[in-house]
Amino acid sequence: MINIAVLGYGTVGSGVVEVIHTNHESIAKKARQEINIKYVLDLRDFPGDSIQEKIVHDFEVILKDEEIKIVVEVMGGVNPAYTFVKSALEHGKSVVTSNKELVAKHGSELIALAKEKKLNFLFEASVGGGIPIIRPLNQSLTADEICEITGILNGTTNYILTKMRVDGSDFNEVLKEAQALGYAERNPEADIEGYDTCRKIAILSSLAFGSQVDYEDVYTEGITNITAKDILFADQCGYSIKLFGTSKKVDGKIYIMVAPAMITEENPLYSVNGVYNGIFVKGNVLGDVMFYGSGAGKLPTASAVVSDVVDEVKHIGTNILTTWSSKKLELADIKDSKKRFFVRIKGNCLERIEEIERLFGKVHTIELAEIKEEFAFLTEELSEAEYAKKAEQLSGILNRIRVYR
Ligand code: HSE
Repeated sequence: MINIAVLGYGTVGSGVVEVIHTNHESIAKKARQEINIKYVLDLRDFPGDSIQEKIVHDFEVILKDEEIKIVVEVMGGVNPAYTFVKSALEHGKSVVTSNKELVAKHGSELIALAKEKKLNFLFEASVGGGIPIIRPLNQSLTADEICEITGILNGTTNYILTKMRVDGSDFNEVLKEAQALGYAERNPEADIEGYDTCRKIAILSSLAFGSQVDYEDVYTEGITNITAKDILFADQCGYSIKLFGTSKKVDGKIYIMVAPAMITEENPLYSVNGVYNGIFVKGNVLGDVMFYGSGAGKLPTASAVVSDVVDEVKHIGTNILTTWSSKKLELADIKDSKKRFFVRIKGNCLERIEEIERLFGKVHTIELAEIKEEFAFLTEELSEAEYAKKAEQLSGILNRIRVYR
């Protein structure tokens, strides 16, 4: 029997307890031994809940108990999670976490510490909720050099964009639903401003390219500027709007960014709707591969956490090699990256087309009978810098969204 401790009895923590309880027998078979939750650390008490007998308020109790071999950190946030995780590793306990802030900020250091101690620091649930993506990148796609990762990595924003498109719902109303369903972060700014996607694409890129990507260096735009009108214009010509985290190697340079993207149904991520996440990976040998599933929520996330616990039980005493060095990855300036742009602009199309085509060359225009005094156009492919220079010379731009193939 392996004894574990769970740090945090919130949405994910209670999910971990539920998953281990529900699938107790099958999990024990796969792990080849029983997994026993000995402690749950939380500041609160839960009178009337059977978990109460395992609740402890002092982390030292867990740290000093030599029977505890695995610590599951599902508290979220960098502090005190970082201090607890580091101490757990220093005291010979492997760690499993769902905490993307912690992994994005201290991943390389904690991986190195775990390796030095012949332990493991596992974080499958930190990206893509229940979707297996960390283990495939780390252990399955090892024959390939990764050329691209493009992902819908945030369930909350995908849920909002889908509902806005399909039901014509209001942004704030759908955000409240996502919070009630336990998808959104405590501070939903992290979801809607793209910071959560940014941390996740930084983690995936660090694993794919083997060196540290600092999320602070990644250009990030969220979805707060996307309006119902953008969605209507996009819909008119068969486009859907998604929040993408992208990481691409072009001519040896690595471009990483987070921003809303307009895509047609030819893009494999087009049908990833609602709270689902999708992650597209291109390898130089394998070609294209896609991962799809529930990207947020109590049980999907807990499922990924428990799968790491099982993996750790099978590897007690051995370090599972993770290639993520602390050496900083050099990122290319996104100003040079090329795309088509969707531009929504004030005025009458007939009156303004000459001025627009003088700047951008031939464009594809979109007009809607129900929306007067504005229209949209799609440019040919141009770099971010070229677009910015031309757009400066054009008055009345209401929004611009990048168009992806
Ligand atoms: N707030 C996150 C999301 C939770 O909506 O995807 C999972 O990381």
